[in-house]
Amino acid sequence: MDYLQAQGVKSLNGTIKISGAKNASLPLIAMTILAKNCVVIKNLPNVVDIKTLLKLLSNLGAKCDSKDDCITVDTSTLTQTKATYDIVKTMRASILVLGPILTRFGHCEVSLPGGCAIGQRPIDLHLKALEQMGAKIDIKAGYIEATAPNGLVGCEIIFDKVTVTGTANIIMAAALAKGNTTITNAAREPEVVQLCEILNQSGVKIDGIGTAILTICGTDGKLLEIDEFSIIPDRIEAGTYLCAGAITKSELTLENVNAKHLGAVLAKLEEMGCSFTSTKDTITLHPAQTLKPVKIVTQEYPGFPTDMQAQFLALATQANGTSIVEERLFENRFMHVSELQRMGADISLNGNVATVNAPTKLSGTDVMATDLRASSALVLAALVADGETDIHRIYHLDRGYDSLEKKLEGVGANIKRLKE
Ligand code: UD1
Repeated sequence: MDYLQAQGVKSLNGTIKISGAKNASLPLIAMTILAKNCVVIKNLPNVVDIKTLLKLLSNLGAKCDSKDDCITVDTSTLTQTKATYDIVKTMRASILVLGPILTRFGHCEVSLPGGCAIGQRPIDLHLKALEQMGAKIDIKAGYIEATAPNGLVGCEIIFDKVTVTGTANIIMAAALAKGNTTITNAAREPEVVQLCEILNQSGVKIDGIGTAILTICGTDGKLLEIDEFSIIPDRIEAGTYLCAGAITKSELTLENVNAKHLGAVLAKLEEMGCSFTSTKDTITLHPAQTLKPVKIVTQEYPGFPTDMQAQFLALATQANGTSIVEERLFENRFMHVSELQRMGADISLNGNVATVNAPTKLSGTDVMATDLRASSALVLAALVADGETDIHRIYHLDRGYDSLEKKLEGVGANIKRLKE
């Protein structure tokens, strides 16, 4: 198993190129199930989650050819409709194939994803919405069995909670359904917006793109002709490197980034004393010489993203005062706290609220990554810790960060990948 070894207390300098967004790529790859042609997707990140989804599609009979950051997916040969446990257990987002397979083939089986480190993460809202569209859903022996022999029918769906993959799943199901589907309380994340835009360009009329009320005009089973497109930049990867600049007090420039998608993150970094200059696709961080403490509440987009909570917690350990971080989306998303405490952070947890007393001197030691974003929080802490930090179980990190250690090395960090 690989681990990362980092030496701390060094400033960084230079430019980092941001990869395509993992969370945009996953639904857009699943969307190829709706296509009649070979679909070319560019600017994909080189991360394990994408490989997992491509393996799932290949197992179902699709042909996937990758070259650099580009893939061609041909789902015309897709014949199987069962997403099995061995793949779904490694990536919950596999549930994204349910909507497109069901709407195209009239049946689909997907293994129940089960719990994960950051909380229960149910999929009840996906299933309830598909039932409203006419699907029959049975849960048998750990599998969701969905059938809709006469196709799905558009209807009015009101999500009780904002769900990102739930919204994506239903948009894709609605794309080939009969009639219009209206989703109220839809997710407005940029990744959902890109899915809508690509479908809209491919013959599925969608009204309300980027708002909480979407109306999708289904094609009644007609498959789509989807032109080549490029994945939007990863706003969470970008936010993580901005935190790397802020925590090491270093000026860093990010390329291939969209500042508009980072509003809440940039606002919090500004509150902490950092400033920015940006162009159409770059952001330069000018660090604060003394970081101010901050109050953060995680929310759905355009609020502060839960996927940046762990990184800001690491950053807050170096602020001059007490920061408060409240996690509203996932009940158990503070697994990184005990690892940061082992490095010397003074963080107390009360339910879903973390109080960070700072500044504290962090010391390098052995730590363990517990989930994807927790992993990058430990890397950030390691960059300013005294001495050497060994970060274990980085298979979590490899699920969602493209070449993290190479990108950090490129701006002067002392970090390398080693084998246990
Ligand atoms: C997506 C992102 C993940 C991010 C999260 C929140 C992908 C692949 N993953 O995850 O990185 O952290 O959004 O921004 O895009 N819920 C239910 N029932 C459901 C579905 C969700 O109760 O059927 C709850 C969840 O438990 C959670 C909240 O709704 O409390 C939001 O979850 P959701 O937006 O669905 O997260 P994901 O789409 O899994």
